[in-house]
Amino acid sequence: MFLNNDEEKMLQGEYGIIVQKSMKILVTLGDVFGAERMVKVKSVHVSGISYKNIGDPALEFLEEWANNGAKTRVHTTINPSGMDMERWREFGINEAFANKQIRIIDAFKKMKICKSLSCTPYLIGNKPQLNDHIAWAESSAVAFSNSVLGAKTNREGGPAALASAITGRTSMFGYHLDENRNPSHEIYINEPVNGVLEYSTLGYHVGKKLGHCIPFFKNLKKPNIDELKALSAGLAASGSIALYHIYNVTPEEKKFRENSYERIDVRKRDLTETLAELSIEEKNEHICIGCPQCSMREIAQIARKVAGKKVKRELWVFTSRTICKEAKLKGYVDVIERAGGKMISDTCMVVSPMKMMGVRGVITNSCKAAHYIPNTCEIPVALKDINNCIKVALGK
Ligand code: F3S
Repeated sequence: MFLNNDEEKMLQGEYGIIVQKSMKILVTLGDVFGAERMVKVKSVHVSGISYKNIGDPALEFLEEWANNGAKTRVHTTINPSGMDMERWREFGINEAFANKQIRIIDAFKKMKICKSLSCTPYLIGNKPQLNDHIAWAESSAVAFSNSVLGAKTNREGGPAALASAITGRTSMFGYHLDENRNPSHEIYINEPVNGVLEYSTLGYHVGKKLGHCIPFFKNLKKPNIDELKALSAGLAASGSIALYHIYNVTPEEKKFRENSYERIDVRKRDLTETLAELSIEEKNEHICIGCPQCSMREIAQIARKVAGKKVKRELWVFTSRTICKEAKLKGYVDVIERAGGKMISDTCMVVSPMKMMGVRGVITNSCKAAHYIPNTCEIPVALKDINNCIKVALGK
């Protein structure tokens, strides 16, 4: 692969051992995938932050890199951690887990990484522009940034994303190249799709049916940002899909309008079946909203529904700390907490140790959460739309 002078110096160790190791990771990946050169990235998003997911080996790796002078060269944000960094005691997290999680975050801070702890960086200041090259991990955010924003990223793993943060580069292959962004299938659905749960289910169904591909949705009416984030998460969870196009919605679709691709028809009935397969009703006492983490609009919606009422079951609302602070200023946090709900920041229902937190079953509106929680938390998940989630929380 061609390297310019600066990149060659990085590889030869002139900027220190950590930059050299980072460049080696990127060059190796580039060689494997046939990249001809590197490209500068405008931003990085790193996943693999929760102690529950990464454990001691990764903690030691991160501390070693931080102690050896690892520093980011571009704006870098990180995914949710395993706990609310301020209120972890309240939620039953033990000291041993918390101490390890704090050490992980301290290592990232030492590397000058922004302590965003969110899977929706595009809602809180890390919002790439059309055609920006970026290096993002976190599958839902990758699908959103590639598709809705028209930025260019592969689905990075945590170490490769960190290497990009430290070098400011990634290898030019995959979705960084225009010729790899063409649709593979066009998708038609026989009835209108509405709301976060339906978009989440549509994404999950298409991802499961087609696997790794680039779908082009031809007849969706204009989804809002929350529906697009749910669609992105669903597609990425079941099918490793990192890019999609929507007629009249996403920024690159005009290039492909005139062409035809293998046609796939989806019926509303398919979504109902997918939902039924994923949903397990058992001792689902906790109503958890926010996978991906809630936007301000979703928090406002929840606040309106519970205003002046009292929840009969636990209602947990997951969001980024940035959005939570803004929601507090707007009064939504007080409304939800006066009703007995809890706002949880910095983490999510999948990457936190839910059993340790006393959760025995979850009701949510996210197919991504329903896909992962039974394995990662060993508890059942039932799926309902937001209205029904709140109704159950209020005991109706
Ligand atoms: Fe985000 Fe956690 Fe879901 S990282 S997309 S809320 S699994």
